[in-house]
Amino acid sequence: MCGIVGYVGAKQAAPVLLDGLSKLEYRGYDSAGIAVSDFKNNINIVRSKGKLCILSEKTEGGKKLEGVCGIGHTRWATHGEPSENNAHPHYNDDRTIVAVHNGIIENYAELKGKLIRQGYGFYSQTDTEVATKLVDYYYKKHNDPIRAIANFVLRVRGSYALAVLFKDFPNQIFAVRKDSPMVIGIAGGETFIASDVPAILKYTNKVYYVGNTEIAHLEKGKVTFYNLDKEPINKEVAEITWDAQSAEKDGFEHFMLKEMYEQPKVVKDTVNGLLVDGKIDFISAGLSDEELKNFNQITVAACGSAYHAGVVLQYVTEELARIPVRVELSSEFRYRNPVADKNCLVIVISQSGETADSLAALREAKKLGMKTLAIVNVLGSSIAREADCVLYTKAGPEIAVATTKAYSSQLIAAYALALKLATVKNTITGERYLSLIKELSSLPEKIEIILNGKESIQHFASEAANKKNVFFIGRGVDYAVGIEGSLKLKEISYIHSEAYAAGELKHGPISLIEDGTLVIGVLMQDRLLEKTLSNLVETKSRGAFIAAVTCENNEKAAEVADITINVPKTEGLFAASLAVIPLQLFAYYLSVLKGNDVDKPRNLAKSVTVE
Ligand code: F6R
Repeated sequence: MCGIVGYVGAKQAAPVLLDGLSKLEYRGYDSAGIAVSDFKNNINIVRSKGKLCILSEKTEGGKKLEGVCGIGHTRWATHGEPSENNAHPHYNDDRTIVAVHNGIIENYAELKGKLIRQGYGFYSQTDTEVATKLVDYYYKKHNDPIRAIANFVLRVRGSYALAVLFKDFPNQIFAVRKDSPMVIGIAGGETFIASDVPAILKYTNKVYYVGNTEIAHLEKGKVTFYNLDKEPINKEVAEITWDAQSAEKDGFEHFMLKEMYEQPKVVKDTVNGLLVDGKIDFISAGLSDEELKNFNQITVAACGSAYHAGVVLQYVTEELARIPVRVELSSEFRYRNPVADKNCLVIVISQSGETADSLAALREAKKLGMKTLAIVNVLGSSIAREADCVLYTKAGPEIAVATTKAYSSQLIAAYALALKLATVKNTITGERYLSLIKELSSLPEKIEIILNGKESIQHFASEAANKKNVFFIGRGVDYAVGIEGSLKLKEISYIHSEAYAAGELKHGPISLIEDGTLVIGVLMQDRLLEKTLSNLVETKSRGAFIAAVTCENNEKAAEVADITINVPKTEGLFAASLAVIPLQLFAYYLSVLKGNDVDKPRNLAKSVTVE
């Protein structure tokens, strides 16, 4: 999520850093900063909360910071709130060592304790300040930046891309990475560092991809790589041959991968867009509390993944607001001759806002005199224009045909509606309401944790590559997310899969289970865990290979499953937001393994504007 840029050359560094950071804005951020070493070798730092334009204004487009070597960063808060104080670059006490960092230092609390015992103080809540001071600690010990960084690597657990300026080594940058992207570009007398190629593509198409735990030493027009024993490593320079369209993928191999990675941000944006003074507000959607209170029924009409988001809406709204919800495929609703009910709110969910069946369902509901609410992503689209009320999801443009980030933002809209209805109808306590809002706000961070652990899912996908049939089972919201996981798999990997409510297996589908059939159980609901587990055991005794998507430390699930995919713990009602991430990644990696066109799967289009 965060972005790093660094520059050493003959130009003024600050404008180059600001320009590079602007190319990384898509990654999502809430603060930014740059550090430049001036001609007296002092390292000057400017940071600001909010958009890059604020940092740009503060530095007069970079002009205020003189010097030809610097590092910059856009931060997406993980440890500590978004604030100027938590923004990068971070520094040691006398500002002789200044660093920017992407990723998460998992053992930062333990390291911070150690540093405090060594006499270090801390001004921020970030793991990056800990990282900077750890480098400082080892630098003071060895008087050698490479050895300081090598020691840092040996002590730190987690993922990181770290770029450091040392006052004692003017016009040089030292960097290292592990499981967080970093490239180094070189052009004539200039050297660049960045999280992603687009940040530096304007200046050079010659890049080095830094390997895990390789240490890079950047000087003007030159870069040297070292291993942890300080032995130089030879690396090949790669030439970027991207066309404009690929460059839009911002360094990701596919739009789908990029869009999956945007989910923490879009979820955060959608949550923030619905919160006013810490409470859910539907006024911007055009629905007053009074109006909402009078609905005693909801019908959702949607297609595909949007329909699946509707199924989640049904479970969550019925549970929280105690009002009946019916979810229908738009293509059925439009021809079913539905019964008009003035107290029924009809919700049409659509990413594109142009899906023909959903547009027709909306028109049908309006014709019957029912109030309509559109949950739509594309501004000014037909469904948005025609609905009585509109709630925009904040997913931004979605290019991959298989939806990921738009679905995730639709889930947020669904939770928000359920919570709003629950308050106006007084069906939950104030305390429960506030704890659910808090949980809602913690989802982006939890999604990012799952994305950071993508390698285990990639590994699982490689083991499943030869499966011909896959079954997803779950109960309640776990079932609702299973149908979405199954659709993703079908769409892009072309592997046949079905999703069933776990209790339905015995009523027929279990006859399809044979030796080695993959059954993925979604086990996120404490209340329903044992029930679904017994259904999984039933398939296991018929030869199924079991994968469980569940919350951390679920020993019961681990006992039954052959593979356990853990996600952070969350409120059961919001489980779809986390459980869907590994299912998306699973489908994605299978598609890649099979050599499919991930972003444009066969026979499918992004927006289905015909019946
Ligand atoms: C699945 C997918 C489709 C859409 C469906 C509805 O990955 O993208 O199933 O969800 O075609 O599209 P919208 O949301 O644009 O109405």
